Amino acid sequence: MNILVDILIHLIDYLFIFHCRYRMGRIILSRLLVLVLFGLLLLFFLLKDFNDQRNIHVNDIEQKHKTLTPIISKPFVWSSCQQNTSVSNITDFGTLPVYIKNFLFYKHCRHFPMLLNVPYKCGGDDESSDVFLLLVIKSSPGNYERREVLRKTWAQERIYNGVWIRRVFISGTTQSGFEKTRQNKLLELENHDYNDILQWDFEDTFFNLTLKQILFLEWKEMYCPKVHFLFNGDDDVFANTDNMVEYLQGLKDNDGNKHLFTGHLIMNVGPIREQHSKYYVPVQVQESNSYPPYCGGGGFLLSGFTAKTIYNMSKTIPVLPIDDVYMGMCLAKAGLKPESHVGVRTAGLNIPSRKLDSYDPCYYKEVLLVHRFLPGLTYTMWQTIHDPNLNCEHLKKTHKINR
Ligand SMILES: *[C@@H]1O[C@H](CO)[C@@H](O)[C@H](O)[C@H]1NC(C)=O
Ligand SMILES: *[C@@H]1O[C@H](CO)[C@@H](O)[C@H](O)[C@H]1NC(C)=O
Ligand SMILES: *[C@@H]1O[C@H](CO)[C@@H](O)[C@H](O)[C@H]1NC(C)=O
Ligand SMILES: *[C@@H]1O[C@H](CO)[C@@H](O)[C@H](O)[C@H]1NC(C)=O
Repeated sequence: MNILVDILIHLIDYLFIFHCRYRMGRIILSRLLVLVLFGLLLLFFLLKDFNDQRNIHVNDIEQKHKTLTPIISKPFVWSSCQQNTSVSNITDFGTLPVYIKNFLFYKHCRHFPMLLNVPYKCGGDDESSDVFLLLVIKSSPGNYERREVLRKTWAQERIYNGVWIRRVFISGTTQSGFEKTRQNKLLELENHDYNDILQWDFEDTFFNLTLKQILFLEWKEMYCPKVHFLFNGDDDVFANTDNMVEYLQGLKDNDGNKHLFTGHLIMNVGPIREQHSKYYVPVQVQESNSYPPYCGGGGFLLSGFTAKTIYNMSKTIPVLPIDDVYMGMCLAKAGLKPESHVGVRTAGLNIPSRKLDSYDPCYYKEVLLVHRFLPGLTYTMWQTIHDPNLNCEHLKKTHKINR
């Protein structure tokens, strides 16, 4: 519009000068001026109308979401949680690495103030049943590029096969001082633009992932209690969310009100006792040498019913720092079992021959999830598998992907 106004002003200027110089053409000029003005006005209204039409659909949906919000605008605020100093009496406490000591000091703290919230994400209590699949993506503040690419690829909020897919990133805080302020500002800006960030004021560390999950499950019961299904995963995976919707829609008599927990099933393992491992869990944290069956935390699917049950169970199970194992513990306590889904490849794809391209889009059209994909590759892959001209004949002729 500004360009049009600019052109108009220049034209009038020009015509005025012309008008003064050549009085002879006076009458013709004023007629021309009227004509030009009329033409521009017409153009202005046509363009305006076009823009309005384009916005109607999106606005309708956003409006619906805003008006039906149960406005609980104030995020939860809790009194700060004190460290439990008596954990230092635990046997050999002094020999434990600092992050494990920290875990033990703050293990009982389950509530932290919310810094960013999207209370109308699912449209409120009743309306949340309009959301078929809620994507819940664990993301640390620094992972800006990952979030950006997910927003325009597999985590794009959209209607697919007639149902809504919605997205939230869940985050804590990182760094301290000025840097922490800057990181929080980044999330705030992103949330302003996209309405997709839940952030709590706790340190976003690997050992606090269980805390993040519990806080999310609590949030979900409050703001999205009736979503049908959830995908819970990392921000560096490739998730074929189209296939997820199709798989979930194909379930027999389960629209989210029955148990479902499926992914890369891990069984018959226990805590790693070697200090150098990322997954090190000393006896002071968990005495038992075995874990219940669970699904790898890179990404799994669950029903709204199961999310609620896990949250319920979590209230009485002490926190274990490994978040995916903790989910398994909650399931076990509720008498529910996690399942295996062949399409979830948290350990990567098993490409039949080394001569084949392991990033052949034809493999990724079929799976539900593959770990680990960085932004550029995610973008290319998502575009390629949606290319109507993608030809996968060569895979049918040779070998299919190993299952
Ligand atoms: C544990 O340590 C605290 C001080 O940190 C002390 O007051 C308390 O008596 C100790 N408790 C036990 C059971 O040893
Ligand atoms: C503090 O730690 C001690 C020792 O592990 C434990 O017995 C006690 O229950 C803890 N207190 C809280 C509030 O979690
Ligand atoms: C978890 O977050 C709390 C709150 O910020 C922090 O005090 C604690 O050290 C963190 N725990 C770990 C293991 O990083
Ligand atoms: C959650 O637990 C409460 C009591 O602790 C129980 O009444 C309720 O039925 C449970 N809900 C689910 C979904 O397990």
